[in-house]
Amino acid sequence: EIKQSYAIDVIAGDGIGQEVMPPAIACIDMLAAKHDFTITWRERDWSSERYLRDGTMMPANGIEQLADGDGIFLGAVGTPDIPDHITLWGLLIPIRRDFMQYINLRPTKLLPGLKPRVTGADSIDLLVVRENVEGEYSELGGRAYRGRPEELAIQEALFTRRGVERVARFALDLASRRSGRLVSATKSNGIIHSMPFWDEVIDEVGKEFSSVTIEPVLIDALAARGVLRPDTLDVVVASNLFGDILSDLLSAAAGSIGIAPSANLNPEHEFPSLFEPVHGSAPDIAGKGLANPIGQMWAGAMMLEHLGQKAAAAELTGAFESVVALGHSTPDLGGSLSTEEFTAAVIEQINTKH
Ligand code: NAI
Ligand code: MG
Repeated sequence: EIKQSYAIDVIAGDGIGQEVMPPAIACIDMLAAKHDFTITWRERDWSSERYLRDGTMMPANGIEQLADGDGIFLGAVGTPDIPDHITLWGLLIPIRRDFMQYINLRPTKLLPGLKPRVTGADSIDLLVVRENVEGEYSELGGRAYRGRPEELAIQEALFTRRGVERVARFALDLASRRSGRLVSATKSNGIIHSMPFWDEVIDEVGKEFSSVTIEPVLIDALAARGVLRPDTLDVVVASNLFGDILSDLLSAAAGSIGIAPSANLNPEHEFPSLFEPVHGSAPDIAGKGLANPIGQMWAGAMMLEHLGQKAAAAELTGAFESVVALGHSTPDLGGSLSTEEFTAAVIEQINTKH
């Protein structure tokens, strides 16, 4: 049973987040009309600007305000004026954790017509499945003797059986519906407690998926392989930190960080999921009309897919892929179009396809 009307919370955020959000919303509104569904966009001014004004990234009951929505559409947050851990832990991390968005799904694809940065790889089409609520990004630890010569910091990585099982199951299921190959990022030679545990649990869950072959690869070797032969990867499962670094590396290998999307999923649909581009607020190009809106549009397509609007999702990715394939793009992909001009071309694609 697919709903036909949705409430989506929009947090455009900072910098180019403000510039790439309206293009994505314009495309989705057009597709909604074509596919007979409606979206009510609930705009939130949660941003660094708000923090500088009120001292918080979002209202105290921010999480409650989002809870009855069908999804969260985020641009980017971050500014040189505020330390990044404040903007991140004040908004994005509480949303990911309170809504149990334990999967961070990051596709990387070489768009038709684009040359990869990497020689020898003529096709890249892979998915990084990153664990999103535990692992190395834990709150366990502390600091002592602040400001003294013997000052100390301890940061503990937290891996639970349930946490590794559910990310393994999600990745194995995806792999079984694609190539049947799953690469697991590990480091069980150097990190001797959590990583052998990770390997064991992945292996155990793997027994439920007889059609999938699991290949554990040490993260350092995997980083090198991501640069040299990203075409040999299909589905990759990784811990929070490894997945974060690897997905940025792979999206850069495929062209531009400006095109990569990311979904923070609560696969059970018990809570809203969050969809965002991988890139940040890009203060170096903000306000100049140079931002590539593809990452935001693609994140929007992942949101439509998660809502069950698969035809509209496919039409959206098809539309920006066609525009790029025709040789039109923003400067980060070697083109000369502004954000607005590129968006107009995508909207025209959507309009001309019936
Ligand atoms: P960034 O992704 O904002 O920029 C890195 C480089 O890529 C810059 O040269 C930028 O111009 C370029 N770039 C990024 N997106 C682009 C696009 N759509 N089109 C064309 N070029 C694009 O990463 P950076 O500079 O490390 O971080 C800037 C701020 O963003 C920081 O405050 C950081 O904390 C924040 N950030 C926020 C994220 C989020 O909201 N999830 C993710 C990453 C960074
Ligand atoms: Mg990152």
